Amino acid sequence: MKFYLVVGLCSLIVTGSATFSRTPYFGTAVAMDPFRNDREYRAVLDREFDMIVAENAFKWSELRPGPDTFDFDDADALVAYASATGKKIRGHTLVWHRQLPKWLLESKPSRDEAIAILREHISRVVGRYAGRVDAWDVVNEAIDDDAKMRDSFWLRTIGPDYVGLAFEFAHDADPKAKLYYNDYSIEDLSPKSDAVFDLVRDLKKKGVAIDGVGWQAHVIAGFRIGREHLQNSKRIRELGLELSITELDLRIELPSNVEKLRLQADSFASIARFCKADKNCKALVMWGFTDAHSWIPGAFPGFGDALIFDTSFRPKQGYDELRRVFPRKQV
Ligand code: G3I
Repeated sequence: MKFYLVVGLCSLIVTGSATFSRTPYFGTAVAMDPFRNDREYRAVLDREFDMIVAENAFKWSELRPGPDTFDFDDADALVAYASATGKKIRGHTLVWHRQLPKWLLESKPSRDEAIAILREHISRVVGRYAGRVDAWDVVNEAIDDDAKMRDSFWLRTIGPDYVGLAFEFAHDADPKAKLYYNDYSIEDLSPKSDAVFDLVRDLKKKGVAIDGVGWQAHVIAGFRIGREHLQNSKRIRELGLELSITELDLRIELPSNVEKLRLQADSFASIARFCKADKNCKALVMWGFTDAHSWIPGAFPGFGDALIFDTSFRPKQGYDELRRVFPRKQV
């Protein structure tokens, strides 16, 4: 009898079905300037995270200086860093309405020409990193705040089919990569999150190779996971799609104070507990980790302090609370 118990336990461990402290990947967006030039930034990045994503280096504006030219320097550096340090890397993003180069926006392609441009971009970029990029945000923010398809270069030139085509091109270029649809303000139940759910359900129905949904989670300190988030996560799981928190930051209305930082720490803990408890939540990725490098102050005047290390790289209460749920892995 004892023999069978041992075999059973080993198979649980091997298949990973044992519920030992399963902790999702814990990641961060990486800004190239401090990545290349700030030793303290790199030290925290080395020590704290087992997943990274380029804040900008994988976007059209950085990769595509011209119609016939690619600039992979920054993207190559991040992929090489991830490989060298044993970290996973997410690719962000293949199709978005923002950060498109001028030459593309000023071009007037026919629908077929636009499809060819999209296919070439995705094939070249995804193909270059096949087997080395764990997941791609194939399409980012295709649904607008009014829950309709967002107006974009891609919608205007190709039509709504651009979404499915992008996933098809990405799957052809790297069949092993996890392919995500990524968006903001889709964490709870709302017309926008319903529209995203309908979009990804239709893609699944058509047999499109989509694997997951990214909740960007750009939220305000005080945010707590509630019933609606759990229901939303459940319907994504029931579609057979995985979930990742892809761009977490928790902005504080300035000036910051002890109470606001406490509130922020509770929010970090709430989101971390949710992602750890939900086996379908594969990663919790911050959109940066130090208040010294955050998009928030520029995008939300009067708000800041949205991350887990302060401007001097000192851990904040949010870091401590988050680490209580996500103990640091030896990466
Ligand atoms: O690279 C140029 C540089 O050459 C130029 O000198 C400088 C001044 O104009 O601009 C630099 O580009 C900036 C780029 O970040 C790289 O730093 C752009 O102006 C600036 O708009 C861009 O901001 C990024 C923003 O996306 C663009 O919409 C933010 O860093 C980035 O955090 C933010 O990230 C997005 C996600 O990709 C998608 N989800 C929302 C999130 C926040 O908007």
